[in-house]
Amino acid sequence: MAISELWTVSNRHQFPLPDFQNGDEIRFPGALVSALLDRFTKSGDAVFDPFVGLGTTFFVCEQRGRIPYGIEADRQRYEWVKQRITTKHHLVCGDSAELAAFDFPEMDFCITSPPYMPHWHKWNPLYNGDADYDGYDIYLKRMQEIYGRICKRMKTNAYLVVQADNLTNEQFSPLVWDLGRALSEVMMLEGEIVVNWSEAVDNGNRFTQCLVFKNASG
Ligand SMILES: C[S@@+](CC[C@H](N)C(=O)[O-])C[C@H]1O[C@@H](n2cnc3c(N)ncnc32)[C@H](O)[C@@H]1O
Repeated sequence: MAISELWTVSNRHQFPLPDFQNGDEIRFPGALVSALLDRFTKSGDAVFDPFVGLGTTFFVCEQRGRIPYGIEADRQRYEWVKQRITTKHHLVCGDSAELAAFDFPEMDFCITSPPYMPHWHKWNPLYNGDADYDGYDIYLKRMQEIYGRICKRMKTNAYLVVQADNLTNEQFSPLVWDLGRALSEVMMLEGEIVVNWSEAVDNGNRFTQCLVFKNASG
C-alpha cells in the first residue's frame, strides 16, 4: 500500500543553535524525528543518519529508546554532537559515501535531512564545494551512490526516510522531486508524508516533505 499522508508537526526546536552556526538553522525539528520513529520503528531499533548535522536524530533516538548511528563530515559539528550524546562511539566523522569502511551493524531504519542543493548552483555540498565535483547532476548521482551503499547496511524491507524541501529562494528548485526520481533507482519509493508546520514560519517553507523508501535488496 503506497504511503500518502498529511501530518501536522511542531517546528519548534528543543535545543539552542551552537554559536558557530551564526544563526544558520540546518536542523529538522525533534518533533518530526519523534513522529517518524513512532511511525516506522520500535524500541531498541537501530536507526542510521548518514548526514547527522547538529545531531537531532541522535538526541531524539536516545530520548526514545532507539539506538542511533551516524556520520557527519564537518568536524566542528561532529565534536559538538559527540559531547552531548551517550552513544559516542556510534558517531563517525567522515564521508557517508565511505560507509562500508565503518563498523556499523545492520539498520532497522534510516532517517536524514541531506545537504540541500538548488539546481542552478555549481557548489556541491556533498563534496564541500570541491570544484572537481561541481554541479547538480553530480550531486544527484552522488546521493544515489550513497543510498545504494546505505541499502547494503539496511535490513531487507527496512524503511528509509529522506526529509527535504523544494527550494523557493530566488527561483523554484524541485529538490524533492529530483531526489525522489534519483533515489528511486536504488530503493523502492513507497510514497510521501507532507508535513505542515504547526508554528508560524517567518522565512522559508510552510511545510516539508518526507520521501519514504523501502530497501528491497538484501
Ligand atoms: C541538513 S544538515 C543535517 C541536519 C540534521 N538533520 C540536524 O537536525 O541537525 C546536512 C549535514 O550533512 C553534512 N554532510 C555534507 N556532506 C556530507 C557527506 N558526504 N558525508 C557526511 N556528512 C555530510 C553537512 O556537514 C551537514 O551537517
